[in-house]
Amino acid sequence: MNKKYLYIETFGCQMNVHDSEQMAVLLEPSGYTLTDDAQKADLILINGCSIREKAEQKAFSELGRLIRLKEKKPELIVGFAGCLAQHLGRKVYSRVRNVDLVFGTHNIHRLPEMISACEQERKKITQTNFSSKITSLNIFAPPLHGSISSFVSIMQGCDNYCAYCVVPYLRGPEMSRTPDDVIVEIQKLVESGIKEVTLLGQNVNSYGRKLQQECNFVSLIKKINDIDGLERIRFTTSHPRDLSDDLIDCFASVPKLCEHIHMAVQSGSDHILKQMNRGYTAEDFLEKVEKLRHVCPHISITSDIIVGFPGETQEDYQATIDLMEKIRFDLLFSFKYSARAGTAAQKLPDDVPTDEKNRRLKDLQALQNIHTQEKHTALEGSVQEVLVEGRSRNSEQDMMGRARSWKIVNFKGTPETIGQRINVEITRGYLHSLRGKIKEN
Ligand code: 5AD
Ligand code: SF4
Repeated sequence: MNKKYLYIETFGCQMNVHDSEQMAVLLEPSGYTLTDDAQKADLILINGCSIREKAEQKAFSELGRLIRLKEKKPELIVGFAGCLAQHLGRKVYSRVRNVDLVFGTHNIHRLPEMISACEQERKKITQTNFSSKITSLNIFAPPLHGSISSFVSIMQGCDNYCAYCVVPYLRGPEMSRTPDDVIVEIQKLVESGIKEVTLLGQNVNSYGRKLQQECNFVSLIKKINDIDGLERIRFTTSHPRDLSDDLIDCFASVPKLCEHIHMAVQSGSDHILKQMNRGYTAEDFLEKVEKLRHVCPHISITSDIIVGFPGETQEDYQATIDLMEKIRFDLLFSFKYSARAGTAAQKLPDDVPTDEKNRRLKDLQALQNIHTQEKHTALEGSVQEVLVEGRSRNSEQDMMGRARSWKIVNFKGTPETIGQRINVEITRGYLHSLRGKIKEN
């Protein structure tokens, strides 16, 4: 078989990153090897995200740039994938004419047949139908050589219908994989050298709700904790409304579970939270944070916030700032609201002017930087367990890994430490990372 090259560009969330890994694995038997040079590619896949307008624009501008490679290489196949492709279907062709293949999140497992049809027939293929099974998630993607950490999807889709969000329309209804499938996948990953897994789902707290066998997220975590050779467990993302006391207790009682939770608050205003259909108040959220900190005092808490949701007044925005001041997140991902087609919020007037959205976002991010820096400075002098992932990007002599809190730690070290959990004394807390030195026992 001829050696062929595959170039994948991924936008958006960790689900998309994981989907791209699966695409690469599925195409290996068809002779495709991954390359990071688009010029060399025989097949280019753009895995686009549609969650926010900006992500959509970025994916299209990349598609526009990469499709031009066809001028010099007409046999090049270009595919558009992910939830953005799911959303737009055939409309992709009216925006970028020369695309060969458009396929959605439920059709990844069909990729080899779709590519073979493209190669042989050179006709456009569109596959964006939903499946009632979760076939795509059960593709095993062996980790890249030398990887220490891997994502594992435990569910797909979402039933929450937050007013601003397209995910339920594009990734379909929530479906959980069986615990056996998840466990077998993790065992295989561990055999291939993986030490840390991040369990992925739009709302992991509701894992198992529709499974025939009795298994909720807490029992799944406990089963995973028993896997020999696995050293760390993480998960993302949690809906605050569904965060149970049992799950909170896991941060104290399940040894491999790392002390970090990503839990999107979205707003600190009860009025806006109601409009967003989030199902909790700012006070409820604060209570969950207090419980988490009571059970696990050093837990790192990260979150998402949207500014400029329809109807957000200066008072609503101030309520978000007040909540941030009370909680002091370790890290925050913040976004300007953008209306998405088909969502409930799209029907509301997008009435916060762009300049005002920009100002709110800028001020909120400046405040968050203060909080993050404060947290990182407070860690100076502490000893953190670091799972070493590889060389640091900053310097040849430095290695990097993550503390249990998910914070990046750089330190002077040698590649022999890769894959090991070592103790590092933090010498300096920067805004985006920590610096430390190996603590000799
Ligand atoms: N506009 C802005 N931000 C959004 N998010 C989701 N939908 C939108 C939207 N329409 C943000 C939320 C979510 C994160 C993944 O993206 O904060 O938690
Ligand atoms: Fe979107 Fe809400 Fe589902 Fe998250 S929980 S994916 S924000 S609908």
